[in-house]
Amino acid sequence: MSSANGAGTDGADFIVAANRLPVDLERLPDGTQRWKHSPGGLVSALAPFLRSHSGAWVGWPGVADVELDELVEDGMRLHPVALSATEVRDYYEGFSNGTLWPLYHDVVATPVFDRSWWEAYVKVNHRFAEACAKVAAQGATVWIQDYQLQLVPSMLRELRPDLRIGFFLHIPFPPTELFMQLPWRAEIVRGLLGADLVGFHRPGGAQNFLWLARRLLGLEPSRGAVGVRTRPGVIQLDDRAVRVGAFPISIDSAGLDSLARKKETIARTQQVRQDLGNPKKIILGVDRLDYTKGIDRRLFALQELLQEGRIDPSEVAMVQLATPSRERVEHYQRMRGEIEQIVSRINGEFGRVGRPVVHYLHQSVGRAELAAFFAAADVMLVTPVRDGMNLVCKEYVACRHDLGGALVLSEFAGAAAELTSSFLVNPHDLDGVKKAMLAALTIDPAEGRRRMRALRRQVLTHDVDRWARSFLDALDPEHGH
Ligand code: ADP
Ligand code: G6P
Repeated sequence: MSSANGAGTDGADFIVAANRLPVDLERLPDGTQRWKHSPGGLVSALAPFLRSHSGAWVGWPGVADVELDELVEDGMRLHPVALSATEVRDYYEGFSNGTLWPLYHDVVATPVFDRSWWEAYVKVNHRFAEACAKVAAQGATVWIQDYQLQLVPSMLRELRPDLRIGFFLHIPFPPTELFMQLPWRAEIVRGLLGADLVGFHRPGGAQNFLWLARRLLGLEPSRGAVGVRTRPGVIQLDDRAVRVGAFPISIDSAGLDSLARKKETIARTQQVRQDLGNPKKIILGVDRLDYTKGIDRRLFALQELLQEGRIDPSEVAMVQLATPSRERVEHYQRMRGEIEQIVSRINGEFGRVGRPVVHYLHQSVGRAELAAFFAAADVMLVTPVRDGMNLVCKEYVACRHDLGGALVLSEFAGAAAELTSSFLVNPHDLDGVKKAMLAALTIDPAEGRRRMRALRRQVLTHDVDRWARSFLDALDPEHGH
């Protein structure tokens, strides 16, 4: 049953729309299927928020050609949007991850501009807009997420002018001269302007967007500097004002802090150290296997330190956990091969039987296991060449109630602006990365505790709830969240 404007009679008042549902459908060899946690920071951040604030999630179940009805899973009301195999190829792997992802990450890989990919992007964005229009109750709030759905705000406004529409970009918004390469640049800006509030991690992204609205659409945005969670920019359209702001995302800090304090996690942490042969120092990397994460750079730095005899392979073990990601996209396949080659070179040269230097797992591990790895790591390496925020570094800090450990963090992660007590590095500067790794490995314990205390103050007081509340308050100032 639908009303004249398409609103479902038992529609939801609060809806999150993202390319992916928070759970992926997995088909097992025996023909049965089950749901598993979806990869990536967007889901890690938003799922705990949505679980505690009843609402609906509109998204793709992660496999092609499945039509599913609405369902409740992991405490969330889910509305699956179906994609055909061709749409997965052209809209998801193609335009989203072969065009927008590299373009928005400073062109660290070459973006492909393909007209049929764009057409698929328009079509699938339309399907998402229609799904949201169907699920939303009269006057509901719809919060659209990320680069895969940038046309949905204006498409949804056409269908349902009664809705309050927010949009948040989880990846960096690029410098304007890079964005200008996109053949469909004006369409994307117009698509986003369908929202009442457009959010970025950093003020720079918001500022770039305001500039593009002027340059590409001839609009007159406000000229003042955008602040963090304050002073959003404003773009006046005919009958509406679109606000444009900066809202740095975060994690469920308290949840991870208490997980790390559990006695099972502490026992597992000791077990991890033991499994690694009780080395003096453990170095850790945890990433989706993505070329933006700079995994190769940290491995090169380790290799040189070993070659120069500045790290003793009998004293140090490195663990690299890498979640499989976008495995059919060519850049990802090439990068995986390169990383696995460096790992085997290091182990071939410096390992011993039963004692590799780098323990590499091309696997996703559960939350509790991850917390144990974080707690076991003396040095955490987060070295992306570009990252919108990066949640892994915040998760590491949240797990260090013991004030142990040291964080090496790239200046090119959004989190660098907040985690200033880490060892900040330029991942392109290999000598700088090596220097920071050594400093972190040999840090004076009192200095380490001082730094970790400052990091924890930031992460524990700026959690995902605060992020979501600050966005939703700016979206709807009269309605407290
Ligand atoms: P991105 O969103 O680009 O993947 P983030 O650092 O923002 O990067 O978020 C990554 C999320 O995925 C974090 O919540 C992190 O804990 C999780 N994650 C990354 N690698 C693994 C892994 N091997 N196993 C389990 N979780 C992982
Ligand atoms: C990043 C993106 C998300 C995406 C996630 C996992 O966090 O910002 O939108 O969902 O990576 O990538 P995937 O392509 O597997 O959804």
